[in-house]
Amino acid sequence: MSDPKPLDVIVVGAGLGGCACAMAMHYAGFNVTVLEKVHKFLRLGDSLGLGENALRLLQRWGLHDQLIDIGNKSELMQIRRWGDGKILAQQPLMDMAGYIGHRGDYHEAFLARVKELGIEIKMGCNVVSYDENEPSLTLSSGEVYKADVIIAADGIKSLARELVLGFEDKPKSSGYACFRAFFKGAYLKSDPLCREFVEKECVNIWIGNDVHLVQNTLRDGDEFNWIITHKDTEDIKESWFQPGDMNEVRKLVEDVDPRIGNAVRSTKECLDWKICYRDPIPSWVSKSHKIVLLGDSCHPHLPTSAQGASQATESGAVLALCLKLGGKDNIPLATRVYEKLRFSRVRQSQLNGEDLRDRWHNALKDLDVDGEIDPESVKMRVRLFMSNRWLYPFDAEADTLHRWQEVSAQVSEELANGKIIPLFTGAASKVVA
Ligand SMILES: Cc1cc2nc3c(=O)[nH]c(=O)nc-3n(C[C@H](O)[C@H](O)[C@H](O)COP(=O)(O)OP(=O)(O)OC[C@H]3O[C@@H](n4cnc5c(N)ncnc54)[C@H](O)[C@@H]3O)c2cc1C
Ligand SMILES: *[C@@H]1O[C@H](CO)[C@@H](O)[C@H](O)[C@H]1NC(C)=O
Ligand SMILES: *[C@@H]1O[C@H](CO)[C@@H](O)[C@H](O)[C@H]1NC(C)=O
Repeated sequence: MSDPKPLDVIVVGAGLGGCACAMAMHYAGFNVTVLEKVHKFLRLGDSLGLGENALRLLQRWGLHDQLIDIGNKSELMQIRRWGDGKILAQQPLMDMAGYIGHRGDYHEAFLARVKELGIEIKMGCNVVSYDENEPSLTLSSGEVYKADVIIAADGIKSLARELVLGFEDKPKSSGYACFRAFFKGAYLKSDPLCREFVEKECVNIWIGNDVHLVQNTLRDGDEFNWIITHKDTEDIKESWFQPGDMNEVRKLVEDVDPRIGNAVRSTKECLDWKICYRDPIPSWVSKSHKIVLLGDSCHPHLPTSAQGASQATESGAVLALCLKLGGKDNIPLATRVYEKLRFSRVRQSQLNGEDLRDRWHNALKDLDVDGEIDPESVKMRVRLFMSNRWLYPFDAEADTLHRWQEVSAQVSEELANGKIIPLFTGAASKVVA
């Protein structure tokens, strides 16, 4: 007897989330095909953190040393006072942001591993509609793909999310926006003011009132990146690529530590990231239980979380394991256990990003007049600068195995009653006609 036909899985989107998910599905023994809209990937974005929670899983899928080579460069990061750059705290980078590398470099490594595993990525495949009952999807070319389960890792502007929600999920301003720039910073090495930040890989953060500036130097000092998070009440035009106004940036950094100020002011162009964030949604799975959201399509993160790619990786691992534990005839059970297992952890990780941002933006207000941290109050220091440490020891697969029995019993009941309990009810009032 030959093996039974493996589960057919289609992953929409070959970003970091889609690639991680494809690897997880492959290792679970499924037949995975990835469909990606763009014809060719460019090296987009700037710094991205990968936490040990993700690296632990990626290692099981044969992808580790390449990632460490990219990201394990700076050991400590400094948190500095906005006006003069005085170091307020110093913490291991691995406790705060994980391994920091260029998003494009990580993406290249993810794509290479997917190909090495023999998983097909079909480029230039733009999904324009879904049939959740088949389930199937249609490309702009008219071509139709059918599978046992379809996973939409199609990013923040997810088309599948609207199908799952049954309404258009409009972005709402978080009250903040980021200006970001990324460029070859070699010319800064001749600037005596900012030289110390560009000579080698390093990460520094300047915190001020309602503003913070993150500086990352990558590729052994060849590449330079800054991100300024600031209050913003402008209308939303959500895009990864919208150009930013350098005059506005120059105003924001008028009173920042002159060393980093010089580097920012001399930057030629930057991007304006309005939000790229969403409130939690009540479901990650279509009513048919066969189309599933993963990654930024259902749980985008703020830059201060430094967990967008890592949480997407965890989601891939959990979904694959649920499908395997549930078996081919129990896809609804598996997908609903997946969303229940993931939701609260992802939510904590998202909120952690908001919390950290708010702490940084208020930290100086809590300091004494000289802007010194009360030296006696070690507790305050911890409270002010808090770390992401708690996120990293988690093993998403072990947790799934541990909780499968309990959660699958609950889901079985919900499925039998025909009533799936929403993940989150607070967002229901935001329904857009
Ligand atoms: C251009 C860009 C720059 C970014 N820069 C940073 C950064 O500097 N730092 C950081 O921490 N995070 C960055 N992010 C976010 C980070 O990459 C994600 O949080 C993380 O990788 C998880 O994303 P994802 O795979 O779920 O979605 P994404 O990375 O957004 O990938 C989604 C993929 O789906 C494809 N897709 C979308 N719609 C369709 C469709 N209809 N049919 C077929 N394919 C489709 C897209 O082309 C894309 O390749 C960036 C994301 C993007 C898209
Ligand atoms: C794997 O999936 C693809 C696309 O859905 C399909 O064309 C192919 O026949 C499948 N292969 C196997 C071995 O089932
Ligand atoms: C990262 O680099 C440090 C310092 O060079 C080293 O001690 C550590 O083992 C490295 N981490 C990994 C996972 O290789």
